[in-house]
Amino acid sequence: MNKAKRWQLAIQFVAVTFLIFTGLFAGGLLIFSNELNNSLDEQLDTLLTEISDEVEEADGRLSIAKPRRFTKKQPLSSLARIELYDAEGKLIEHDGVKGTAKLITETSEVSQDGLNLRTSYMVLTSEEDKKLGYLQIQLPTTLRDRAIKKYIVTMGIISTLGLVLLSIAGLFFSKSWVGPLETSYRILRQFTEDATHELKTPIATIEACADNLEEELKLAGKETVRLDAIKRATGRMNKLVEDLTLLTQIQIGFEGILPGNIPGRVSFNSILAGVLEEFELRLKEKRIDLVHQVDENIFLNGHEDKLHRMIANIIENALRYTEEGGRIELTCRVRNGWLKLTVRDNGPGIPLESLPKIFDRFYRVDQARDRARGGVGLGLSIVKGIVDLHNGSIAITSEVNQGTGVTINLPVLS
Ligand SMILES: Nc1ncnc2c1ncn2[C@@H]1O[C@H](COP(=O)(O)OP(=O)(O)OP(=O)(O)O)[C@@H](O)[C@H]1O
Ligand SMILES: [Mg+2]
Repeated sequence: MNKAKRWQLAIQFVAVTFLIFTGLFAGGLLIFSNELNNSLDEQLDTLLTEISDEVEEADGRLSIAKPRRFTKKQPLSSLARIELYDAEGKLIEHDGVKGTAKLITETSEVSQDGLNLRTSYMVLTSEEDKKLGYLQIQLPTTLRDRAIKKYIVTMGIISTLGLVLLSIAGLFFSKSWVGPLETSYRILRQFTEDATHELKTPIATIEACADNLEEELKLAGKETVRLDAIKRATGRMNKLVEDLTLLTQIQIGFEGILPGNIPGRVSFNSILAGVLEEFELRLKEKRIDLVHQVDENIFLNGHEDKLHRMIANIIENALRYTEEGGRIELTCRVRNGWLKLTVRDNGPGIPLESLPKIFDRFYRVDQARDRARGGVGLGLSIVKGIVDLHNGSIAITSEVNQGTGVTINLPVLS
């Protein structure tokens, strides 16, 4: 894993932590302000009950008995705006600081002279249950708002600090966590590289010997059927070695180690033309109709040989798995800075349960059938690797007995 990947891992870790922090922060704020509101409401209820005891009625008129005993006992009551209303909601009298001078029934908070007031009221009734009027009490929310502000500032500082520390820890641990993984991955890659390299020479020797032997047998007028089998097998081995080498190269390409691996401006149209020319004869032999619609002047930032291989592998599959007389449709369209390459065939299709595994190395839907057709199961994993290398995306849709569609999206150069 390279530095960029490690940073990516650390950033993902920080992003997840940030989301968790934000969730906790918002949840905490909600609970905290709810608690403060509940306590304000409790205080309002207590005051309403206590002050309603001080309300007197004479000839159907309400008034507050004075002096109120609780004024000194409860510091809160000195802050409270106490208002008495008649049954029609008209202000009769107020005590302490003047409140809204209006009966508030539809909301629990109002603004008055730049001050936020939490408000509550009580219906006052006579012994015969006749409505006499209303007692309204309002308390400024200054203390609550100050507490909430403090909570936001404190949590903001703690969260930012925590996030910074976690980012540093994330970066540090990502290095030590992925260290062993990196080592085993490097060993595996080195093994593949060495094994494929070492295999090349014996395969070339077998091929050369088989050719010599074939000539000798022909000269002696003997059959060469078994030799053909040897040549086919070595051909397959050659392809396997080539594919494994390419897969390793693609992986190295990701890490940017290979000096020749720097991408450049390439013409997608000329690469495609080259691939189509390569397949012309085989398509004709199998009587498969390949129709194509391609936009002009498509340029990409990429690796010519790998893009060639990417298209070739997709067409190879369509050709290989489609029955004689079938049809392949290829389209290349450029929209909004992206190339959309689609290759659709009317072959046997891929079962739905196989689609998630289709890009796995050595995966074949039908082992026997696909091996007989020459498949090793590396083609699509190579295609996926090349697409990823070019910052693109690939999707396969398929229906059994209807056909398969491969869609590749790649960023284009303007
Ligand atoms: N167009 C297609 N129609 C039907 N099946 C397909 C198609 N393309 C791929 N498959 C299935 O997906 C499997 C994997 O394809 P992939 O190209 O990776 O390997 P392969 O063709 O078997 O071997 P190779 O390494 O030579 O390409 C194939 O074995 C085949 O079963
Ligand atoms: Mg293939």
